[in-house]
Amino acid sequence: FRVPEPQNEPVYSYAPGTPERAKLKEALANARAQEVDIPLYIGDREVRTGTKRAIRPPHDHHHILGYYHEGDASHVQEAIEAALTAKPRWEALPWEERAAIFLKAAELIAGPYRYKINAATMLGQSKNAYQAEIDSACELIDFLRFNVSYMAKIYDIQPNSSPGVWNRLEQRPLEGFVFALTPFNFTAIAGNLPTSAAMMGNVVVWKPSENQVYAAQVIMDVLKEAGLPGGVINLINVDGPVAGDVVFSHPDFAGIHFTGSTAVFQTIWKTIGNSIATYKSYPRIVGETGGKDFILAHPSADVEAVSTALVRGAFEYQGQKCSAASRAYLPASLWAAIREKVVQDLSTIQMGPVEDFGNFVNAVISERSFDKLARYIDQARNDEGVEIVAGGSYDKTVGYFIQPTVLRVDDPQYVTMCEELFGPVLTVYVYDDDEYEAMLDIIDKTSIYALTGSILSRDRYAIELATTRLRNAAGNFYINDKPTGAVVGQQPFGGARGSGTNDKAGSELNLLRWVSARTIKETF
Ligand code: NAD
Ligand code: ALA
Repeated sequence: FRVPEPQNEPVYSYAPGTPERAKLKEALANARAQEVDIPLYIGDREVRTGTKRAIRPPHDHHHILGYYHEGDASHVQEAIEAALTAKPRWEALPWEERAAIFLKAAELIAGPYRYKINAATMLGQSKNAYQAEIDSACELIDFLRFNVSYMAKIYDIQPNSSPGVWNRLEQRPLEGFVFALTPFNFTAIAGNLPTSAAMMGNVVVWKPSENQVYAAQVIMDVLKEAGLPGGVINLINVDGPVAGDVVFSHPDFAGIHFTGSTAVFQTIWKTIGNSIATYKSYPRIVGETGGKDFILAHPSADVEAVSTALVRGAFEYQGQKCSAASRAYLPASLWAAIREKVVQDLSTIQMGPVEDFGNFVNAVISERSFDKLARYIDQARNDEGVEIVAGGSYDKTVGYFIQPTVLRVDDPQYVTMCEELFGPVLTVYVYDDDEYEAMLDIIDKTSIYALTGSILSRDRYAIELATTRLRNAAGNFYINDKPTGAVVGQQPFGGARGSGTNDKAGSELNLLRWVSARTIKETF
């Protein structure tokens, strides 16, 4: 079979006066008017536990959008059993039948569910219309379509044979169930982690972030409507450690598809290591984790291009992209001009609720995140050798709003140059122009994380030097661009060092982790 050639989903602009804008506004109004009641999805059942947790928009936390039902350890156990019950029929289904379900899911999101899933992402995760569109619509659709094409490619990989011998490679699903543990910040990633594993014939227990349950439910509804049989993906809204306790002590645990913070991934890895003798097979451990992503400008760089990369790279979605620029190394000769442009751009940026489409910046995800960011800003205000170049204020009266903040530091190893803050705070170090090479060493040395990074330069030698010396400092390296916005099928995404196992989401390299090959030799 040949699967359809995947194309990246075109992005709607939601410009004033467009019919798309009117439809998205209507979906937002509907979502505000109806109170959602989100169950757990276990096998064919929707489970309402009665332990209800409120869902509130981060930009308007006094409002309740609805509730999700929280499960406990018994629901995790039930979800695992439902998955294992579904497994024999699901893995026996020819791959093209599985492919059809995920292709249909992509069509449903591109069509009838587009506004609903964008509205859920906007309200639940405080993303503006454009950021929701490139995430919960386009990137998720792309993941589904491109992964189907990678799946077909993987099943096509076959060894050579010789006269009298036929060698075959069979790509088997993993023996057991896969646990998908997903973050708040991208609906597309939340959708990709369970579906990529399921596509390859696996059964999945999926625990979304407690801050992303709203859009997660829409994904589940789409998959059901697309014909995904009950039990293949089981969605459980359960406290993370509670879910982990049951999953990681189960003998049929076959793998984890994780995206989230480095600290949580390290805890999970240790737990799995301690239980390793419990499992039937060595589990696949795939984790994309934190980042401290950089922008380096060479003295030859274009000021306009650097400023745009800084503002968009650091502040879109309030700096809560794993790829967001949070540290920058800028040459002294360009600093005054870059500073002026960035400060001017930031003065025109509006901050506020997602319902006003003029707002570029919305709220950070939670009170916990807000308080953490406020602490770092206060510390910066009091520390010597730190200047607040822009922003620095915050207010959580209505929503968790942090003004886009730029710090300039004298020490390239200052705390906000090294730690992941995950919010709209960019720290800049200004270097003497003739210290460019020394900067490369400092960046590499301080890159405990290695997710994304950019070099902006018009000097080819400088670009080559950065590309070579920073080889291990970023899994996604951008030349003359911001370090965010990887597109499925174009820039496979993932980082190494403290940023993850680098199993490149949006590529066949990732899907290969969800199969276990069997070699068959037949002699005639
Ligand atoms: P998080 O680590 O707090 O949570 C991720 C998931 O793990 C959630 O579902 C959460 O409920 C669960 N969890 C938390 N503690 C747990 C525990 N002890 N046991 C089991 N489960 C637990 O991450 P987040 O705040 O949702 O997402 C932000 C983080 O994700 C940032 O660090 C960001 O850099 C990272 N991220 C990385 C990538 C990437 O591709 N590298 C992409 C997106 C996000
Ligand atoms: N696609 C997202 C980005 O690169 C993860 O920002």
